[in-house]
Amino acid sequence: MNNRQNLMEDIDHILISKEEIEQAVKRIGEKINADYHGKEPVFICILKGASVFFTDLIRQVQLPIAIDFMAISSYGKSTKTSGVVRILKDLDHDIQGKDVIVVEDIVDSGLTLTYIKKTLTQRGASSIRIATLLDKPERRQTELSVDYKGFVIPNEFVVGYGLDYNELYRNLPEIGVLKPRIYNDIQ
Ligand code: IMP
Ligand code: MG
Repeated sequence: MNNRQNLMEDIDHILISKEEIEQAVKRIGEKINADYHGKEPVFICILKGASVFFTDLIRQVQLPIAIDFMAISSYGKSTKTSGVVRILKDLDHDIQGKDVIVVEDIVDSGLTLTYIKKTLTQRGASSIRIATLLDKPERRQTELSVDYKGFVIPNEFVVGYGLDYNELYRNLPEIGVLKPRIYNDIQ
């Protein structure tokens, strides 16, 4: 691996700024506060990508919530979906009869969330909604309704604010488009 002086050197341009993210997270949090008034939803974080969005989002929520975590197999080193979905880490708690909000970083093909939704339905969740920071609708391969979304983005590979390429860039505070040469080097 080459030493990077600065992660920003690999970013072609910033797509969404810190301030824009903050406003979107606030807007989604307020909507959830209103929609779930009187309820005690369970927030499920899809690791690892959604972790940054998740921790910001739950702090905008003023309801008595529970949190849980799930890890799903993803693309590995490639930037394309394999269509194969596998649970790497399951929830700690039973969600039978619960109102569930699944928190994701980005909906791309929609295959991951379609699988998760089906699994949680089979486990008897009484309602399931999806909150995603980013949505790439151009790439959708399944019918999937997204209930809360931060931004609709074009079909470009983005990193930062939890999103990675090859496990790097998750700690960038904004969302940027990765220079294509970075993934062309590795593929
Ligand atoms: P889907 O099953 O194709 O919707 O896959 C969604 C998952 O793919 C996300 O949770 C991300 O981990 C990953 N992903 C999709 N597009 C991007 C991207 O542009 N940057 C980083 N990760 C992405
Ligand atoms: Mg992910």
